[in-house]
Amino acid sequence: METKILSKDDLDQAASLLAQGELVAFPTETVYGLGAIATNETSVKNVYRAKGRPSDNPLIVTVADEAMMRRYVKAVPEEAEKLIKHFWPGPLTLLLYVKPGSLPEAVTGGLPTAAFRCPDDQLTHDLIAKLGYPIVGPSANTSTKPSPTTAQHVYHDLKGKIAAIVDGGATRVGLESTIIDLTAQPPVVLRPGEITPEALSTVLGEPVLLNTGKVGEKDIPKAPGMKYRHYAPSEPVVVVDQVSDFSKLMLDETTGVMALSSVLADLAVPDANKFNLGNNLVDADHNLFAGLRYFDDQAGIKKIYVQGFDQGQASYAYMNRLNKAAAGQHYRK
Ligand code: TXA
Ligand code: MG
Repeated sequence: METKILSKDDLDQAASLLAQGELVAFPTETVYGLGAIATNETSVKNVYRAKGRPSDNPLIVTVADEAMMRRYVKAVPEEAEKLIKHFWPGPLTLLLYVKPGSLPEAVTGGLPTAAFRCPDDQLTHDLIAKLGYPIVGPSANTSTKPSPTTAQHVYHDLKGKIAAIVDGGATRVGLESTIIDLTAQPPVVLRPGEITPEALSTVLGEPVLLNTGKVGEKDIPKAPGMKYRHYAPSEPVVVVDQVSDFSKLMLDETTGVMALSSVLADLAVPDANKFNLGNNLVDADHNLFAGLRYFDDQAGIKKIYVQGFDQGQASYAYMNRLNKAAAGQHYRK
């Protein structure tokens, strides 16, 4: 299958491919998603196949607006109302009970809940509105690889396996949406993202917990995807928590370094072995996955050192993804 690259002028074509059951990747403000019409079980199953994703890991349901979500949920609790008013469209995914039978089992993984997301991206809003149905939207990468933040990343992973990619340029945030479980009391953040537990708690006027369940622990994680290794290039990744430790690393042509420009400036490393994360944490969020992919594609690299951040809740999302990529490995002298 030839994978077409479409633009904002081709939305009719993208919508009709989705209506025919084809897979179409789409931009969001977080990362690119892999779309299929959510009401068609066969199409949804093809999403798992294209990504190589385990079938017990349910998919996000991407909607154009709250009204579309209402067709599939049992009820919209007051907490959901408040969060939607404040954060939608935006990088916040709500876990709610679904109306039984309203979505194929392949979407929910047989759970009584589904994760609803309304991205802040005009192209994708218009695409879903045109289609008239929600689309499933897992990140458009091969399972376990870093999520795609450009149409080129999607093409790299999924060319020949999907009908089309709608190219909306580089995504703004760079890390996936915050997922909040509103079926729990108090609500629980299952995956940290740009919107912090503090910000959610302020809008809700009640405490919000953060799920700290670690991979491999006995209790079954509530977001099934959390138990799998993620965001991992083929080479080992090591987190460097202290800026002062960068000067102690044994660096050569087989090592890659990902850090802020201020840190890289002091290192005697060839340009090809450096990846600039930018000037601050927001830049680093935006660039993390692109950097992991950059080194993944370089034959001679055997190890990747990546700068860690300790900036409270603002760095939760970045550290969550980086720790998964590093399988928990941190530099110790
Ligand atoms: O920013 C995002 O959320 C991106 C863009 C493309 O929208 N999408 C995304 O989807 O990150 P995905 O499939 O890569 O991650 C969704 C996560 C998975 O960890 C999955 O296990 C969890 O949401 N999830 C989905 N439905 C769930 C459910 N009913 N209960 C618990 N967790 C669920
Ligand atoms: Mg993903």
